Amino acid sequence: MTITRTAIVTGASRGIGAEIARTLAADGWAVAVNYARNATAAEAVVADINDGGGRAVAVRADLSQAAGAAALFDDAEAALGPAGGLVNNAGVMSLNRVSETDNASLDAHIATNLAGPFRLMREAARRMPDGGRIVNLSSSVVGLYQPGYAAYAATKAGIEAVTKILSKELGPRGITVNAVAPGPVATDLFMDGKSEETVDRIRSMIPLGRLGEPADIARVVRFLISEEGGWINGQTLRANGGVV
Ligand SMILES: NC(=O)c1ccc[n+]([C@@H]2O[C@H](COP(=O)([O-])OP(=O)(O)OC[C@H]3O[C@@H](n4cnc5c(N)ncnc54)[C@H](OP(=O)(O)O)[C@@H]3O)[C@@H](O)[C@H]2O)c1
Repeated sequence: MTITRTAIVTGASRGIGAEIARTLAADGWAVAVNYARNATAAEAVVADINDGGGRAVAVRADLSQAAGAAALFDDAEAALGPAGGLVNNAGVMSLNRVSETDNASLDAHIATNLAGPFRLMREAARRMPDGGRIVNLSSSVVGLYQPGYAAYAATKAGIEAVTKILSKELGPRGITVNAVAPGPVATDLFMDGKSEETVDRIRSMIPLGRLGEPADIARVVRFLISEEGGWINGQTLRANGGVV
C-alpha cells in the first residue's frame, strides 16, 4: 500500500519532536510542525527544513484543548494535503508523589498527554488515507514505576493501551499504529528542575552509560513510519539504552 508522505508532528518546536520533523523531512516527508506557544522555535525548525530543500509549515494548536486536534488536521491538510503520518509527540511532565499532586497538575497531564493524542488519533482514524502510519510517544517510565512519576506514567500507560486497540481497528486499512517509549533524553522536559547530581544518578542507571539524544528517538520513529516498518503494528518499542 502506498504511504501518503505528509506527516503531522506534534510538539515539533523543540526537543525530540523537532528532531523527528527534521528527520522525516530529510526522508522526503512534507511536515506540519506543530507547537503550542513557541512560534519562534517552530519557525526555526521550518526554516531549517525548507532551506535544506524539504517542505514544512508551522501550525499552532494547543492540543490540551478539545478543539486543538481537529484544528491542527484542518490547517495541516489545507497547507500540505491529507496526512499519511501522525506522530503524537507533544507532552508535558512534572514530578510529584501522589500525595502532592494537585488537580491542576493531574488535569494538565491528562489533557496534553492522553486526551490530546486520543483526539488526534480519532481525527486520523477518520481522515488518514489507507496505508498510513501513526506513532505515539510513550515513555520508559511505564515499566520503571518510580516514585514521583504517577500522573505522567498513568497518561503514557493509557497511550500504550490506545495504541494497541487502534492498531486492531485500523489494521484492515493498512494503517499501522505503534508507540516509542524513550528512556531519559537530554531535552527541556527531562532536564528542567533536576540537579546535576540527579541527572548523574539517572545516567548511572542506564546500561549504555549515557542519556539519549533526540536523534536516538527520531531514528526509531523514522523506521516505524517507513515502508521497512510496514509489518510492525500495535507495538511499543522501548528505546532507552537498556534502562528497563
Ligand atoms: N525527554 C525525555 O527524557 C523523554 C522520555 C520519555 C518520553 N518522552 C516523551 O517524548 C515527547 C517529547 O518530549 P521532549 O523531551 O522533546 O519535550 P520538550 O523538549 O519539553 O518539548 C515539548 C514539545 O511539546 C510541545 N507542547 C507542549 N504542550 C503542548 C500542547 N498543549 N499542545 C501542543 N504542543 C505542546 C512544546 O511546544 P512549545 O515549544 O510551543 O511549548 C514542545 O514542542 C513527550 O511526549 C515526552 O513525554 C520524553
